[in-house]
Amino acid sequence: MGRLQDKVAIITGAGRKKGLGEGIARRFAEEGATVVITDIGKASGDHLPANHIGTSEEMEEVAAALREETGGNVHTMVCDVRSEDDISRTIADTVSQFGKLDIVVNNAGIGYIMKPLMEMSIDEWDVVLDVNLRGPFLFTKHAAQVFIRQGFGGRIINIASQAAKSPAPLLVHYTSSKHGMIGLTRTAAAELGEYGITSNAVCPNHVTTGLGAIQNARRGEVLGKDTDGVLDFRKAKIPLGRVGLASDTANACVFLASDEAAYITGEAMNVSGGEEMH
Ligand SMILES: NC(=O)c1ccc[n+]([C@@H]2O[C@H](COP(=O)([O-])OP(=O)(O)OC[C@H]3O[C@@H](n4cnc5c(N)ncnc54)[C@H](O)[C@@H]3O)[C@@H](O)[C@H]2O)c1
Repeated sequence: MGRLQDKVAIITGAGRKKGLGEGIARRFAEEGATVVITDIGKASGDHLPANHIGTSEEMEEVAAALREETGGNVHTMVCDVRSEDDISRTIADTVSQFGKLDIVVNNAGIGYIMKPLMEMSIDEWDVVLDVNLRGPFLFTKHAAQVFIRQGFGGRIINIASQAAKSPAPLLVHYTSSKHGMIGLTRTAAAELGEYGITSNAVCPNHVTTGLGAIQNARRGEVLGKDTDGVLDFRKAKIPLGRVGLASDTANACVFLASDEAAYITGEAMNVSGGEEMH
């Protein structure tokens, strides 16, 4: 029996290869959950170009590979987390196809627009806040309504960041959205606890996903280092001596989604090799 046997989970922004969402989906499927991976599916406007997002084609490849690798139940749905209609439809379709909903992982996020605060446009600020904070709020709201109707609790897991607790230069919109996500996590925990719903955040430090690689390249420009130099710079600040892996974050999510974490809510758990300690 897996630790998430017979659970039904939605993971947002899980359509990119090597992403944290893919890693979480892998571990959830290995632990016996029915997993619905969702992503935006197609490019949208200047700030969400095809090379930075999980297209429908890539999401189908991710799901097929995970089914093959884990033998688990992995399904796909297109959902732009900026759209309340998309979110309520995704939740309704999940319940009608798989019978219920137990877990939502708010993983979709963007952090590839990197520039000094004084050069940041309102458009750039808005798109990051819309995807990283407004989307998780809407998903929490609609999932909570379903959890309460079902009557057996539920789990909300928000993928925040080390940038939810510490500053990250060139990422004022991102750090603001991730700090806000902790407020969302705690307030949801306070309001929804009486229904047996837990709400927790996970705060990873750097992981070399597609997004992580872009951030490394941009940091390298600022620091005058190549990618290896940036990674060495990062490792030097991490007590456990290596950068994070998607599996580190995924293992924390399995725990928070499992029965073992039934009495844990309102937490913002660092998964950072000791780089972040508060
Ligand atoms: N990689 C890191 O170093 C790191 C560290 C801490 C936190 N995080 C967070 O982890 C999460 C996953 O990041 P990742 O590194 O795997 O990057 P990623 O780019 O692989 O994944 C982000 C996903 O969000 C999706 N997305 C973007 N806009 C969307 C929208 N409007 N609707 C639905 N999906 C949308 C993208 O298509 C993509 O699949 C993000 O929230 C990120 O902020 C990443």
